[in-house]
Amino acid sequence: MKTSLPNRRTLALPALLRLLAVAGATALPAYAAAPVAQPNEEGAALTFSSTGSIDTNNPFFKPFGNGRACASCHQESQGWSVSPAALQARFTQSNGNDPIFKLNDGANSPNATITSLEQKRAAYNLLLSKGLIRVGLAMPAAAEFTLVKVEDPYGYASAKELSLFRRPLPTTNLKFQNTVMWDARETLIDAQSKLCIIGSRPAKCFAPVDVDLLHQSNSAVTGHAQAAQGLTAAEQRAIVDFEKTLFTAQISSKVAGSLDAAGGKGGPLALAQNNFYFGINDVQEGDYQTGAAFNRAAFSLFGAWRGLDVRPPPPPAIPGRPRPPAPPPVSSTDLARASIARGEAIFNNKPFNISGVGGFNDELRRPLQRGTCTSCHNTPNVGSSSVPRLFNTGTSDARLRTPDLPLYTLKNIATGEVVQTSDPGSAMQTGKWKDIGRVKVPSLRALEARSPYFHNGSVNDLTALVKFYDKRFGIGFTPQEVVDLTEFLKVL
Ligand code: HEC
Ligand code: HEC
Repeated sequence: MKTSLPNRRTLALPALLRLLAVAGATALPAYAAAPVAQPNEEGAALTFSSTGSIDTNNPFFKPFGNGRACASCHQESQGWSVSPAALQARFTQSNGNDPIFKLNDGANSPNATITSLEQKRAAYNLLLSKGLIRVGLAMPAAAEFTLVKVEDPYGYASAKELSLFRRPLPTTNLKFQNTVMWDARETLIDAQSKLCIIGSRPAKCFAPVDVDLLHQSNSAVTGHAQAAQGLTAAEQRAIVDFEKTLFTAQISSKVAGSLDAAGGKGGPLALAQNNFYFGINDVQEGDYQTGAAFNRAAFSLFGAWRGLDVRPPPPPAIPGRPRPPAPPPVSSTDLARASIARGEAIFNNKPFNISGVGGFNDELRRPLQRGTCTSCHNTPNVGSSSVPRLFNTGTSDARLRTPDLPLYTLKNIATGEVVQTSDPGSAMQTGKWKDIGRVKVPSLRALEARSPYFHNGSVNDLTALVKFYDKRFGIGFTPQEVVDLTEFLKVL
């Protein structure tokens, strides 16, 4: 399934061995291929596997049912998601016959006509333009709301099956996850578990994420791959074990050079060494294990690069001696590194008012909260949420809906209130009015490899994403802050 790309940068074997030694991997398997950096606009991302190599014999790469494999939608070269540019190339090369182009959930509507190539191109437009897969979900039973109107440009969606267009989430860095799927529909509730959100009434307790992932792998095969039979237990185990060995991060930047040089802690190896457990740094309760208070400085990758753009003052002139040469100008690499370090500090520390966020202001009982990006993206050096909290930051709001997405009008049965949304998010699971539009907080590593962003691919690049937040929360970033924060996000 791996596409061959030009300009691949291969790690030299000694570097690989060093990586493996530090990660505590056992002997290098005989077949191990060196990890290969995957180029992207900013530089390159690298996936490191704690087993030493990416085992393409794993059932993750095996076609099931309709010919799709997990890797059809989760590709290493695209941050283990899929990118529109690569999808367009796959479409052209295969005349639209690559297995990702299937009517069940690759197309805008399962009923689309796909006789001619042009019809196919139109039918798979959302996949080709934004990398979106159609998640078909029925209205939940006994919901607090009814579906009063459907505006589906493709004439398919109804209460029986809403069409929700969503980006494939990366199948890497799963060590740091506790919430599976945008709407958490594979985050299994387990009343016996000790993994509970502190202070939740009624108690919200969850199965270990390993259980979620095993279940999810099977749903993917019977769903996306339309297999008549599910996976064997051994295949589920093999897939999940494979996924859990993967760590992906940006490794180099065209402007800032190696991200693990000069004290920088970028790249997948440093990432793999981060600790993680349920509740490691929750905004509300702090560290569930040590009891330490919440630490908003969740990212500590590039602190060593702070101030690299500051030139030391010229040495004082000594009378009677020739003036010593001025220090060399700051290199463009150091300028870029200093910008990244400022971006990290903005992400951790720049305060703004968080208000009107479903799942935040209401659940935490703080109607107006002074917070930072890490109030939600708080898992250290990863940026997922330390406990399964889902938020509605407005990404599915009717006013941001583009005409290529369906729009659903929902009515609260008890109050008569009406809301319009392109994706009800976790309310499709819980049936609760308050959960409309809530989605999980995704991990933020290897972002550059997997644009476009948000569950519906609604922002194309990281500058646009920073501007979305600036507007949503009235942050008032200066132009320089927009640049610095964007540069930081690009090298995660
Ligand atoms: C047709 C494309 C497609 C195929 C094939 C596919 N996936 Fe996915 N995957 C998605 C989409 C889309 C999502 C997000 C859906 C959502 O959240 O509603 C996703 C989400 C996931 C997630 C959740 C990650 C997270 O952070 O929550 C995992 C894990 C995953 N897929 C694993 C797999 C595995 C394992 C297979 C093969 C058995 C597979 N996928 C096959 C499209 C696909
Ligand atoms: C109130 C909680 C909250 C705050 C505050 C917040 N985020 Fe997010 N962030 C989310 C949620 C939820 C998503 C997923 C939204 C979606 O996909 O619709 C998200 C998504 C993202 C993504 C896209 C990831 C992807 O894979 O598509 C990036 C990047 C991001 N946030 C950066 C930031 C930055 C930068 C800030 C600070 C300016 C910030 N976030 C503040 C909750 C938050």
